[in-house]
Amino acid sequence: MDKIITQQLTDIANTFRERHLCALFEADPSRGRRYYVETANLWLNYSRNHLDDSAIEHLLMLANKSALDEKRQALFSGETLNQSETRAAKHTLLRAPLKPHDADSVEIHQVLKQMASFVADIQSNQIIADTVITDVVCIGIGGSELGTRIVHQALSASMRPRVQLHFLANIDGTAAKSVMRRVTKESTLFLITSKTFTTIETLQNFATLKAWFTQDFTEQAFMKRCYAITANPDAAIDLKFENKQIFKFWDWVGGRFSLWSAVGLPIAIAYGMETFSELLAGANQMDGHFLHTPFHENLPVMLALIHIWYGNFLGYPTRAVIPYAQKLEKFPAYLQQLEMESLGKSIDIEGQRLQYPTSPIIWGSAGSNGQHAFFQLLHQGSQIVPVDFIAALEPEHEFVDHHNALLANCLAQSQTLMTGGAIDKKEHGHFNGNRPSNFILMQKLTPFCLGQLLALYEHKVFTQSVIWNINAFDQWGVELGKRIASDILAHQTPNRPMTFADIQATFSHPHCADGKNT
Ligand code: F6P
Repeated sequence: MDKIITQQLTDIANTFRERHLCALFEADPSRGRRYYVETANLWLNYSRNHLDDSAIEHLLMLANKSALDEKRQALFSGETLNQSETRAAKHTLLRAPLKPHDADSVEIHQVLKQMASFVADIQSNQIIADTVITDVVCIGIGGSELGTRIVHQALSASMRPRVQLHFLANIDGTAAKSVMRRVTKESTLFLITSKTFTTIETLQNFATLKAWFTQDFTEQAFMKRCYAITANPDAAIDLKFENKQIFKFWDWVGGRFSLWSAVGLPIAIAYGMETFSELLAGANQMDGHFLHTPFHENLPVMLALIHIWYGNFLGYPTRAVIPYAQKLEKFPAYLQQLEMESLGKSIDIEGQRLQYPTSPIIWGSAGSNGQHAFFQLLHQGSQIVPVDFIAALEPEHEFVDHHNALLANCLAQSQTLMTGGAIDKKEHGHFNGNRPSNFILMQKLTPFCLGQLLALYEHKVFTQSVIWNINAFDQWGVELGKRIASDILAHQTPNRPMTFADIQATFSHPHCADGKNT
């Protein structure tokens, strides 16, 4: 980050330590209307933040100095932005209309056609000789699960899925057991989603379901019901998938940005290809907004700058995300991967150790439930936690009073965090307020709005990575643990439960980072 602007921002941030948010509103009553950006169906009000015109101007200078404009162009033109893996990050192409002269776009649209015809075959019971598919088990983890799962949860608010979706991610055998209890073998499809097709959780869960299925039927019958979604088709073929059972995606799609590819197939199966297309259209709308809108009116850019402001200049190490929408309950978990896997870095693109913090810790859950769990800390705890509140203007249901109460609660929390107040004369009944939040409002939890929301956070993450000069598209930090787990497993005897002594042994001989035993 530019040193001079950083110093100026640090000085400005220090002046805010003494200023109450309410005083900012008194000094400028128009800020509630002015500190606001919008794009179709989506609004961000950021007036309840420790910011004024000068702070915003300096944050925008920081963005300008970081070459964000060139980098966002580079993202969309498919340049190699993932330097450590020598790859582009072309997830925006996945949701763009067909570009007949772009070979990748042509392939993307071929896979979309393959998905559409598969969905039609399922609907007309043509997948497994006249069998009605009632259940789809989606095996996959991380980016091969989280996006699809939250979209499914969100859409099931207003749409009835055509089949039951079951997600199987954890290597904990209870997860597989629970799926086995819920489905009928004859009428179930199995989708194995893995970019690499080497992830042990996914391969183990696949093997376990295969063993379970073949207790009653042949292996051939099982494989007929299995489809692979992967960027490594050869590995799927090694596991006996036929070519026609493979939906391909590409190594230039990061796992956590892959929902828009065939990874989203469960959504198309459960809610129809047209719904999946609406999701893509929403994300594509946000792509256009991010690419073409000046920074001060740009939703992802403004949100990124506010998040940088709190992490780097006011020193708040965590951020809460609280959707006032039960169906977005798992959205914070999705963001944990998107933000912390992308931005949890301490080395810059040139390989130098960073001198400033990057990703905060992201946490949260749905409101109003959270109010009865962790909001005490948000209001009166010893640390300040900036919050992103997310709500939808229109409900998915007919219970208008429920929705009004939900919105009233969300608005009340955001207001109270700012104003504080007193509900008792004694000290414990006193709320200091002065706690910042953003308020993101979407029209309705439609597939289109959901696509916009997810793409908003993707581009926000990208913007932060550019300003911090880090690579948002690699995740080396998760690799070492995977290797050590394989190593520990290699020392165990298959089918013999690990003992206390086995566990103790790993503490006696831990592997050090340089590969030597202590
Ligand atoms: O462990 C993290 C990760 O590498 C994620 O980036 C990825 O989404 C997930 O594992 C699953 O990987 P795959 O799709 O290759 O199975």
